[in-house]
Amino acid sequence: MQHLVDTDQLSLRQIRAILDDTARFKAKLPPPLLQDRLLITLFFENSTRTRSSFEIAAKRLGAHVVHLDPGRSSTKKGETLEDTFANLCAMGPDGVIIRHSENDTPARLAEMEMVPVINAGAGSYAHPTQALLDLYTLYEWFEGDLAGRKVAIVGDIVNSRVAASDIRLFRRMGIEVSLVAPKPFMPPATDLPRYERIEEVLDDVDVIISLRAQLERHKKPIFDDYAEYAHHYCITEELLGDRGILIMHPGPVMRNIDISDEILDDPRCMVLDQVRNGVFVRMAVLKLLLLDS
Ligand code: NCD
Repeated sequence: MQHLVDTDQLSLRQIRAILDDTARFKAKLPPPLLQDRLLITLFFENSTRTRSSFEIAAKRLGAHVVHLDPGRSSTKKGETLEDTFANLCAMGPDGVIIRHSENDTPARLAEMEMVPVINAGAGSYAHPTQALLDLYTLYEWFEGDLAGRKVAIVGDIVNSRVAASDIRLFRRMGIEVSLVAPKPFMPPATDLPRYERIEEVLDDVDVIISLRAQLERHKKPIFDDYAEYAHHYCITEELLGDRGILIMHPGPVMRNIDISDEILDDPRCMVLDQVRNGVFVRMAVLKLLLLDS
């Protein structure tokens, strides 16, 4: 049974198949390949893009989707998550899509080997479909020529599951990653090049991935004043000048803290392209896990 806890479970061939299927689905919607399959989504953390993107992807392939609202579920009555999951599996879904604040939840449920488990974001550990859609966005822009491209990840890297998954996947694909963050946002142990100021990498990168401060994961406030943080880390017109650097962000964007209003409207900004690609990438992932594996 194939799960997607993080992209390291996928072979390079499978990653290439996802990129190819994504491009095909984007060019022309496929027939309902997952007609009458059933997926359950189980989101223990807030989500705008990821949950609706999975739902739209599933429906575009002809599958049905049932959402469980964990706020109203029996885990609130003391049932363990494993028991809730086993009960849902007893109803015969073809896959469960889960988001949770703890790093190891998708892996624990996947180990039960009841249905394919798809991680839609786990703690600060992994967000594999975001990494795949980020990869696809680069793959499309650079026309398949990814090796040696230079990506700087800027912001709250240590608390970001998107950064964690992007770093693992991008390095595997030969993309060079560097990290830019103030000390409290920088992972302590990494062999990647680290910088404190964006200006240090600006003349040497093809892409900047900006990240939101993951306030919900900070035990106590890290900065009193995000205006001061923005002064150094916000991606602005003044900072970029006429450099042809692509700007990406997984959303939600904190306007004028992560990225300025003008850059959000600039053709170099890929934020909505990422969201658009996300649906097709998730269609490709669902096809791979439910049909091809
Ligand atoms: C991210 C997440 O939840 O990990 N958003 C997303 O899924 N696109 C990033 C974030 O919340 O900052």
